[in-house]
Amino acid sequence: MHPFKVVVLGAGGVGKSALTVRFIQNVFLEHYDPTIEEAYRRNITVDGENSSLEVLDTAGAEQFTSLNEVYIKAGKGFVLVFSLTQEATLKEVDHLRKQIYQIKGDSGPIPIVVVGTKLDLVSEREVHQNTIKALASRWGLPFYETSAKRNWHVSEVFESLVRQMRTR
Ligand code: GTP
Ligand code: MG
Repeated sequence: MHPFKVVVLGAGGVGKSALTVRFIQNVFLEHYDPTIEEAYRRNITVDGENSSLEVLDTAGAEQFTSLNEVYIKAGKGFVLVFSLTQEATLKEVDHLRKQIYQIKGDSGPIPIVVVGTKLDLVSEREVHQNTIKALASRWGLPFYETSAKRNWHVSEVFESLVRQMRTR
């Protein structure tokens, strides 16, 4: 079975690796170690159907964003990650979203999920639910608020993406 290629993108430190490793290994990465590039594999059963995923965890750091074009070309589905505790990181999601449509062109709908992280850090929250709801509906994309630390809504992200990738 050919794996679906999923690419996890977003600004530095927003929690891409913590989200990915929670999904793949069911552990929480407490320690911040900036990523260069990591690839993971996992099988997942969604609605009784088995799929194989190859998940590419990318670098948020500015000096690596030139690689995003290569990742986008190779990817089938995309997890666009921002931190609910850092409103500025939403800008990068909008930028990546536009870059994906530009690179992939009009070959039909593209599987994308928008993810706000660090839902458990309630007192540090900067992004109101109404803000992200309005943006996601304007973009026509599903969104999830997650916590890798508490394992809240992490699997839903990948299940949503699998459902989108299967039909496209
Ligand atoms: P780069 O690889 O540099 O692009 O960063 P990243 O987006 O992969 O961020 P990473 O997953 O390494 O997380 C950065 C820091 O935020 C780490 O210290 C994590 O433990 C913390 N973090 C990530 N997700 C959560 C979460 O859901 N809750 C809390 N409380 N902390 C989180
Ligand atoms: Mg990382």
